[in-house]
Amino acid sequence: MSETKLKTLVIGSGGREHAIVKSCLKSALISEVIAAPGNGGIAKEAKCLPLDVTDVDATVALAEAEKVDFVIVGPEVPLCLGVTDALQAKGITVYGPNKAGAQLEGSKVFTKDFLNKYKIPTAKSDTFSKGEADDAVKALENYSYPVVVKASGLAAGKGVIIAQSREEAETAIRQTLSGELFGNSGAEILIEEFLDGEESSITIMVSGENYVYLPAAQDHKRIGEKDSGPNTGGMGAYAPAAVVNESIKAQVISDVIEPTLKGLVAEGIDFRGTLFIGIMIVDGIAKVLEFNVRFGDPETQVLLPLLETDPISIMFHCAKGTLKPEAVKLKPEYAIVIVAAAKGYPEAYPKGETITLPDNLPTNVEIVHAGTKLGDKGEILSNGGRVLGITAFGKSLKDAATDAYKVCDAIEWNSIYFRRDIGYRQLTREQ
Ligand code: AMP
Ligand code: GLY
Repeated sequence: MSETKLKTLVIGSGGREHAIVKSCLKSALISEVIAAPGNGGIAKEAKCLPLDVTDVDATVALAEAEKVDFVIVGPEVPLCLGVTDALQAKGITVYGPNKAGAQLEGSKVFTKDFLNKYKIPTAKSDTFSKGEADDAVKALENYSYPVVVKASGLAAGKGVIIAQSREEAETAIRQTLSGELFGNSGAEILIEEFLDGEESSITIMVSGENYVYLPAAQDHKRIGEKDSGPNTGGMGAYAPAAVVNESIKAQVISDVIEPTLKGLVAEGIDFRGTLFIGIMIVDGIAKVLEFNVRFGDPETQVLLPLLETDPISIMFHCAKGTLKPEAVKLKPEYAIVIVAAAKGYPEAYPKGETITLPDNLPTNVEIVHAGTKLGDKGEILSNGGRVLGITAFGKSLKDAATDAYKVCDAIEWNSIYFRRDIGYRQLTREQ
C-alpha cells in the first residue's frame, strides 16, 4: 500500500463500530484509530472520546482537533444529518454517503419513488402525508391482510407496522400520521403490500458506479427462537446465506444493484459508502424491502472478517473514488455472530451487571461489544439491551456455530440471554 498512514476516527458505539475498529487495528493503512463515543469493549483496544453523534458541528470539531485523515461513519443518523458533507468541506476523507445519498435510508418515500422511477422490483405501495389519514384508510380497500404501514422517516428500526386486520392498519395509519407513534418521522407514510418470503441482507461497498459485493447475510430480528416474539435490533446473523443462490444473486445485480447505482448517478448523487439492501425473496425473485446507507448490525460482525482484502483499504478507496473491485478477495469460509442480550430486552432489562469473558478465545472466535461500559476497576459492565456479539468462523456454518456457542456458554453474566438457533434456516436445509 503506497498511501501514507491514516489517523482514523470511527463514529458510533455499537457492535458494528467495534467490528470496524477491530478491522482498523489489523489494517496496514492505519496509524491510529480512535472511536467516538465508542463503548467498553472498544475502550480496551482504542482511544474513545465522548461525542453526541447527532451533533454534526461537534463531530467536525472533534475530527479537526484530533487531526484525523479519515472518518468512517457507523450509524445512519449522522449521515442523514449531513456529517459527511460537513467533514468533506474541511478536506477530510469520509466513508459514508453525503446527505443526498443518505435519503435512501432517511426517507422511505424518497426510496419508493426512486425504486419505481428506475423500475427496481419492490412491494406495491401508496404514499400519504399528514392530514390525509382518511384517504389512507380508504386506500386499504386495495390491499389484503396482513398489510404493512411504514413511517417514512428514521425511527430506529421501529417504524414498520405489520397490521393483521383493517382495524390494526387504521390505528397504525392514524397514530403514525398524527405523530403519536414516531413524531415527525411519521409525517409521511407508505401503505405497502406484504411480501411473504425469505429475507436476506445484501451489502455492497459503493464508490459511484463501482462496488464490491459482500457475501449475502441473514439477520434474525425476533427475540425468540424460530423467529418468535417481538422485533429487536438483530439477535444474530451469518454469511454467506445460501438462500441468495447464484440465480438470485444475478437477478439482484442486474435488476437492483445496477439500476440503483445508475439511478443515483442520474440523480446527481455521488454515493461513497455502504449500501445495505434488505430483500425479500418471493417465488425466486428478490424484491427490495429497504435500503440502509450504512453497514448492518449485526451483519458487519460477520462480513468484515470474511474479507481477505483489508476492509479499511476498500472503504478508503471507495471514499477516494479509486476503488478496484476486481482486486477484492473474500475468504472461502462461513461466519456467524450470536448476539448476547440482557434478559428482558427488547422490553425492560437490567444494566450495570458484571460480565466476565473467557480468558483465551480460540483463534476463530472474536467478541465484539455493543452495550458495555468499563467500571472503575476496568471491569466490563452491561450497559444496553444488546450487549455482546460472539463471532466465529469455520469451514462450514455448523462448525462456526458450534464454536460460537461454546464461547457463549463460557461467558459469566447473570442476565445473559441469546438465541440458540442462529442460522437455523440454513442449518436445517443442509441436513
Ligand atoms: P424495513 O425497515 O422497511 O426493512 O422494515 C423492517 C422489517 O419489516 C423488514 O426487515 C421486514 O422483516 C419487514 N417488512 C418491511 N416491509 C415489508 C413488506 N412489504 N412485506 C413483509 N415484510 C416487510
Ligand atoms: N441488521 C439490520 C440493520 O442493521 O438494519
